[in-house]
Amino acid sequence: MKNVGILTGGGDAPGLNAVIRGVVMRLGREKKESYRCIGFVDGWAGLRDNNTVELPVEKVGQIIHEGGTILGTSRTNLYKDPGHVQKALASLKKNSIDALVAIGGDDTLEIAYYLNRDHGANVVGVPKTIDNDVNGTDFTFGFWSSVEQASDMIDDLRVTTMSHHRVMVVECMGRHAGWIGAYSGLSGGADYIAVPERPVDVQEICDALKAARAKGKTHNIVVVTEGTSISGVDVAPRVVRDKDGNWKLSTEIPRDGFGNPVMQPGQVGEAVASEIQKRTGFEARALALGHLQRGGTPCAYDRILGTAYGVAAGSAVVQGKFGHMVRLNALKIELIPMQGLIRESQKEPKKYKLLPTDFLDMAGLFWERP
Ligand code: F6P
Repeated sequence: MKNVGILTGGGDAPGLNAVIRGVVMRLGREKKESYRCIGFVDGWAGLRDNNTVELPVEKVGQIIHEGGTILGTSRTNLYKDPGHVQKALASLKKNSIDALVAIGGDDTLEIAYYLNRDHGANVVGVPKTIDNDVNGTDFTFGFWSSVEQASDMIDDLRVTTMSHHRVMVVECMGRHAGWIGAYSGLSGGADYIAVPERPVDVQEICDALKAARAKGKTHNIVVVTEGTSISGVDVAPRVVRDKDGNWKLSTEIPRDGFGNPVMQPGQVGEAVASEIQKRTGFEARALALGHLQRGGTPCAYDRILGTAYGVAAGSAVVQGKFGHMVRLNALKIELIPMQGLIRESQKEPKKYKLLPTDFLDMAGLFWERP
């Protein structure tokens, strides 16, 4: 009998339960060996504190459609304190864990990679986040559910925006990359989409709106991603690039345990809306979609992708392919070494998968310009 730990870390994302189910079912059906799955509660905090829950096949039978995570999650950075790493290793030993499946975004995967690299822990990573910014995979699960949510909300907002001939500024999540904003904005017919990959001055947004009105539009939708650096508005810059094009995190906003900027939903959107109204005279309102983008049931795509990732992670455990992450590459689910995808130390800048320039150019075709 082999013992396999499973944990979910970082912000929750629709499809987490599909992954858990995929791992447990795959291992439960293995013929050559018996596997017992054990969940660590609330991500790395559960491993550190030895907070466990049994994960028999019966427990995961009816969770594929549920959002969130049955294991709970947290943003715990074990590497902030060497003592916490030691506690986590002790907990792996105490539970006789033969392999650990870590499901999470760049922060969770970073810890998984370090535990494998530094201590030989048998870890397999599964890339998750609504932000879709994890390096090395085409899509993280959670992203498409979030795009569906945001896109539906933009459609709903358009109705009231049209009636009042207003500008609606819709703020999407995305601290480092603008995937959700770009995809939902394009799908929702936005007149401008602002993303962290392209810092912008608010005047450019105002010019696009004025040009659209000059062509007969009577209302406008602007999508602003929370991590975008927008000059000309009354809000601290979020993430900026230095002269070499590298990410430079603004020093003006608070950080979490992994150094990520902590965003207050609404700040950027409100500031942009107020400046637009001032500069164009068009009545403007703002709405931050906030955590609703992580809520609800996972869309079918994320259920399938999460399931495929979970099954592949279970297979990796059986094959002993540790230090790897599952990923989607074109249409194939594969394993890829985490080394190279993740920074080697928490002092280095993080590696993100950003929106391709081509996509932004394509989206920009639909905006008016003076
Ligand atoms: O998980 C990523 C993310 O959704 C970001 O887009 C967002 O800025 C952040 O999480 C919000 O985190 P929290 O739930 O801790 O407020």
